Amino acid sequence: MVDLSTNYLGKTLRSPLVVGAAAPLTENIDNIKRMEDAGAAAIVLHSLFEEQLLEERYEAYHQFAHPTETYPESDFRVDSEAYLERIRRAKKMVDIPIFASLNSSTVGSWGDYVRQVEQAGADGLELNIYDIPTDMSMTGERVEQTYLDIVRSVTDAVNLPVAVKLSPFFSNMANMAKELSNANASGLVLFNRFYQPDINLETLTVESNLLLSTSREMRLPMRWIAILYRTLPLDFAATGGIMTAQDVIKMMLVGANVTMLISVLLSHGIEQLQKIEKDMVEWLEAKEYDSIAQLQGSLSQVNCPDPSVFERSQYLKALQTYQPYWKLVDGSYVRNYAN
Ligand SMILES: Cc1cc2nc3c(=O)[nH]c(=O)nc-3n(C[C@H](O)[C@H](O)[C@H](O)COP(=O)(O)O)c2cc1C
Repeated sequence: MVDLSTNYLGKTLRSPLVVGAAAPLTENIDNIKRMEDAGAAAIVLHSLFEEQLLEERYEAYHQFAHPTETYPESDFRVDSEAYLERIRRAKKMVDIPIFASLNSSTVGSWGDYVRQVEQAGADGLELNIYDIPTDMSMTGERVEQTYLDIVRSVTDAVNLPVAVKLSPFFSNMANMAKELSNANASGLVLFNRFYQPDINLETLTVESNLLLSTSREMRLPMRWIAILYRTLPLDFAATGGIMTAQDVIKMMLVGANVTMLISVLLSHGIEQLQKIEKDMVEWLEAKEYDSIAQLQGSLSQVNCPDPSVFERSQYLKALQTYQPYWKLVDGSYVRNYAN
């Protein structure tokens, strides 16, 4: 039997198939057991947002300052204790690692809460920094410093390994990765998915409707994991468009420690994990690998026969490989059958 085990954030996992953060997957606590039974190697719980924690604090303050007035209804209100209880219950239900996920964009919002997450038994923390700076006076340097300050405030407070889930939109992603490693991050989750609003032409309003991913989206994290592999003491979780066993294997080839699956499980169900694992084993056996560790990182930039494939020099070559659907022959367009 092929050995699928891999290491992530100090844990040995039975395979690289990790369920990534998404409320529809982990809000129902019974799904946690189903995920383990279907072969999930670890689970990231859906995020607690800093807005939710802050709303709870505003409410507590309001009740203290104005005991006779009712606090206004809020969409954000959650019980942060309920999140801790979810971690405790998940840990009791399954043997696989459970990672908590906290989502923020400002420094200092978590305070003591991260220690409570640690005490609740989480095996690690995924810190999702989701920020879309639009203030024209905010320099890139200050944006980056805010990320680093958030990370430092959490890594200083807990002994848990902290993985940072972040956007790809930095002037120099490699430098940002180095700085995050210096701020004691143990891993990077590449990349955060940004939700782009759409326009509804019937109602002439801006709408936020969530689209699930396709495999195309994995090229960006794949490139960056390939470039960063073995350059820094960081683990890499790939997220974004990983739908099949082949996608998982590609991510492992460039150096990911694990892959995080969300859209594929939302669209095909949690049990799809079994099929992905079976297909991975078949592929590895057909190629005569004994373990997935054997291939991990073998097509990363440090190990690639042509390391320039991940950089700008490949751009021109890539453009030249495109075959248009139509071509011009003797002044008229005809179908290009080479396509
Ligand atoms: C319905 C839904 C809810 C999500 N909730 C979270 C969340 O709570 N925290 C988080 O970090 N990412 C969240 N994500 C993003 C996913 O974790 C993941 O990064 C993204 O969907 C890309 O992976 P995929 O292509 O497998 O879907 C959510 C995604 C979806 C589709």
